[in-house]
Amino acid sequence: MSRRRQIYEGKAKILYEGPEPGTIIQYFKDDATAFNAQKKGTINGKGVINNRISEYVFTRLSHIGIPTHFIRRLNMREQLVRQVEIIPLEVVVRNVAAGSLSQRLGIEEGELLPHTLIEYCYKDDGLGDPKVSEEEIACFNWCSHEEMQDMSSMAIRINDFLCGMFSAIDIRLIDFKLEFGRIWDGDYSRVILADEISPDGCRLWDINTGEKLDKDRFRRDLGGESEAYQEVARRLGLLQNDD
Ligand code: C5P
Repeated sequence: MSRRRQIYEGKAKILYEGPEPGTIIQYFKDDATAFNAQKKGTINGKGVINNRISEYVFTRLSHIGIPTHFIRRLNMREQLVRQVEIIPLEVVVRNVAAGSLSQRLGIEEGELLPHTLIEYCYKDDGLGDPKVSEEEIACFNWCSHEEMQDMSSMAIRINDFLCGMFSAIDIRLIDFKLEFGRIWDGDYSRVILADEISPDGCRLWDINTGEKLDKDRFRRDLGGESEAYQEVARRLGLLQNDD
C-alpha cells in the first residue's frame, strides 16, 4: 500500500507528493471518462501505455527545447514531474476538423483546416470546460499576455514536431490538447508544458485507413480501445516483443 500523501485525484491520473520539495508523482490510471464524466469506463492497460507514450513525447519535446514538467519515469504507472501552478486553461490545437469543432460549426470531420487553429477552454469540470476567448482570459486574469504568447508559440512548435513524428509512423495528427503550468523562481515565473500527451488527449488517425487510434474509440463505442493505444505505442517502438 502506498503511504504517500495524495494531493489530487483526477479522471485519469492521481497526483502524490514527490520525494523532494517541488516534485510530484503522477500516477496513470486505466479509468476513462468522456462527455464531462457522463460516460465512465476502463481501458485495460491504458495507464501503463499513456505513461510510456507521454514519457517518450515529453523527452523528445525537451530535445527540441520545449520546457516540460517531466523529470523521469519511475515505474510502469508513475512518473516524477516538477510541481507547477497549473494555468486553468486547456490549449487545443487543430489541424483537421473533428469533434466539437465539427459539431459547433457544421464542418465535416476529416476536412483539412486552411491553417492550424488554437482554441482555449477554461478548466472547470462543473462547467464542462467551456471554450473561452482571449478577451475573457485577459479579463479574468487566468494568465498574462506574455504567458498566452509563450503557450501559443510552444503549441505551434509542439504541433509541428508531433505532426512529423506521427506522420513518420503513418499516423495523422488531427488535434490535441495541452496544459501548461507556472514555475516560480523568486518573483519571476515561467511557463512549462505539464500534464501528459497520449491518445487520451489527441486524435490520431491511421494515414492509410483513417482508423481512429485514440480515445474516440471509447467516446463513440467503437471498441478496441486498448488495442488502438497499444498500436500507437508499438509504432513508436515502445513495446517489447515489437515484431
Ligand atoms: O472535443 P474536442 O473536439 O474539442 O477535442 C479536441 C481535442 O482535445 C481532442 O484531441 C480531445 O481528445 C482533446 N481534449 C481533451 N480533454 C478535454 C477536451 C478535449 O483531451 N477536456
